[in-house]
Amino acid sequence: MDYQAVLDEVATRVAPEIGRGQVARYIPALASVELGRFGMAIADADGSVYGVGDWEVPFSVQSISKAFSLALVLAQDGETLWRRVGREPSGNPFNSLVQLEYENGIPRNPFINAGALVVTDRLQSLTGDASTTMLDFLRAESGNPELAFDAAVAASETEHGDRNAALAHFMASYGNLDNPVPTLLEHYFWQCSIEMSCRDLALAAGFLARHGVSSDGSRLLTRSEAKRINAVMLTCGTYDAAGDFAYRVGLPGKSGVGGGIVAVVPGRCALCVWSPGLDARGNSVAGVSALDHFTTLTGWSVF
Ligand code: DON
Repeated sequence: MDYQAVLDEVATRVAPEIGRGQVARYIPALASVELGRFGMAIADADGSVYGVGDWEVPFSVQSISKAFSLALVLAQDGETLWRRVGREPSGNPFNSLVQLEYENGIPRNPFINAGALVVTDRLQSLTGDASTTMLDFLRAESGNPELAFDAAVAASETEHGDRNAALAHFMASYGNLDNPVPTLLEHYFWQCSIEMSCRDLALAAGFLARHGVSSDGSRLLTRSEAKRINAVMLTCGTYDAAGDFAYRVGLPGKSGVGGGIVAVVPGRCALCVWSPGLDARGNSVAGVSALDHFTTLTGWSVF
């Protein structure tokens, strides 16, 4: 496969979609990002990486971090997490509160905000410093020691974080959190604020394409755990658009309101696309379209 030729063709085909949608405004520090940006990278399972457009420009990873926190918890803790969080699509927006009361404080899945808060709570209990553990992990897997938190984004989200605080307090009332809510929120906002480029993220997600094997050749996850993370990404990674994402793209994917999406072709490669214009469900308009073109051009999907 000539990855560079595929990326160039995807960039040409997606051009009319770039600039569509809206940047995330509920985190004011993200509202100033330029709408017309577009980048895409492919990291082959052997670690070689290719890119097009703004593929080396850092952006806010936001909810893409949830795939990595899930991996870190499963790696250390195995299956016990699933007593505290489900693995069914929610069919609701990523920051919705409504199901939590019906379902006794157990979030539907680890990628909606409520579920991600439970995962970060567990990572905090396991490591004593969830956000730094994640940053160190991402630096190692991407091979980029310069990766950093964006303090302005974390502060902006803290200031406007009433919804996440409500989710966390509500789950605490059901006994589904081990750490104090302010500690948990701090680590969650910091993990979401990490700045990475498409290149960094495609490399960092490589372990999901290599069936659980890290960039240094050691095993992070069992083959079965890697399969399970990919499965939850496919069914829940793009929230209430997961059905449409599976229909159009046909790959495990995890989006973030920074406009990035990571996708995985198990056994072959990991991809990351970035374009800040979001649809109503918080997924990048040009990003989903680029991945749709990618799987159509290559014929690579899990189906
Ligand atoms: O908690 C939040 O609302 C943000 N830090 C992350 C949300 C997000 O990226 C949803 N994904 N599309």
